[in-house]
Amino acid sequence: MTDAMIIGGGSGMGLALARTLLAEGREVTIVGRSEDRLAAAAAELGQEDGKLGAMRADIGREEDVAELFARVGKVEHVAVTAADATGVYGPTADVPTQTARSFVDAKLLGAWLVAKHGAGRVTGSITYTSGINAYRPNGSNTIVAAANGALASLAYGLAVELAPVRVNVISPGWVDTPIWEQLAMDKRAAFTDLAARLPARRIGTPQDIAQAFTSVMANTFMTGAVLHVDGGHRLT
Ligand SMILES: NC(=O)c1ccc[n+]([C@@H]2O[C@H](COP(=O)([O-])OP(=O)(O)OC[C@H]3O[C@@H](n4cnc5c(N)ncnc54)[C@H](OP(=O)(O)O)[C@@H]3O)[C@@H](O)[C@H]2O)c1
Repeated sequence: MTDAMIIGGGSGMGLALARTLLAEGREVTIVGRSEDRLAAAAAELGQEDGKLGAMRADIGREEDVAELFARVGKVEHVAVTAADATGVYGPTADVPTQTARSFVDAKLLGAWLVAKHGAGRVTGSITYTSGINAYRPNGSNTIVAAANGALASLAYGLAVELAPVRVNVISPGWVDTPIWEQLAMDKRAAFTDLAARLPARRIGTPQDIAQAFTSVMANTFMTGAVLHVDGGHRLT
C-alpha cells in the first residue's frame, strides 16, 4: 500500500506534486518510462526515509500498467500527469498519424488503462491531467486538444462506475515545465506574450498545479469534475 502513485512524477507537475506530498509525510511512488529521469527525480527529492518509491512503466502499454498495479497493490490516490508531446503539435495535415496515435494511446487510453487495472486497488481517487488546448484551441494542437477533452468524459463515466472512488481532471494552462523542450518554439517569447494577456498576469508554475492536485485528492465531495487552473486563459 502506498499513499499516492504519480504516473509522470519524474518531472514537471508530477515531480512538484511528489515534493508536496512527501513534505506532508505521505508515501509516494513516482512512475515514468525513463529510469534515468526517475533516478534524477529521486535524487532531487532527496528522500532517505523510505517514503519514496520509483517504478518504470509506459502508461500506453497495458502490460506495464497491469504490472505496475500488481506490484503496488492498494494505493489511496493516483495522479496521472504523463504525456509526451514530441512531434504532435502542428497543423493536422503535418502530424504523422503514428505520432497522433501514440499520443492518444498514452494520454487517453493510458488513462483508461489506469482505471481498468486500478479498479479494486485504488481506494481514494484518480486525478487526470488534461490541458487548456481542449478549451481554447489555437489551431496547432488539435489531436492533443481532442485527447485532453475526452479525458473529461472519461472521468465523468468513471466517477459513476468506480464510485465511491473519486475521479477528476485538472486542466492546467501554460506551465513552465520540461514538456516545453519537446515543442519547436521560442518558449520565453511565447510565455512573455501570454503572461501579459492572462488575467493572472503570469505563466503557471508546477507548484500551482501540485496545489490543485492535493486539494482535489483531499476533497471527498469532489468527483466527476474538471478543475481549471489556467490563470484565466479560457477567458482570453
Ligand atoms: N506544461 C504545460 O504548459 C501544460 C499545459 C497543459 C497541459 N499539460 C499537461 O500536463 C501534464 C504534465 O506535463 P508537464 O508539463 O509536467 O510535463 P513533463 O515535465 O514533460 O512531465 C511529463 C512526465 O510524463 C512522463 N511520461 C511521458 N510519457 C509517458 C508514458 N507514456 N508513460 C509514463 N510516463 C510518461 C515523462 O517521463 P518519461 O519521459 O521518463 O516517461 C515526464 O516525467 C501532461 O499531461 C501535459 O500534457 C501541460
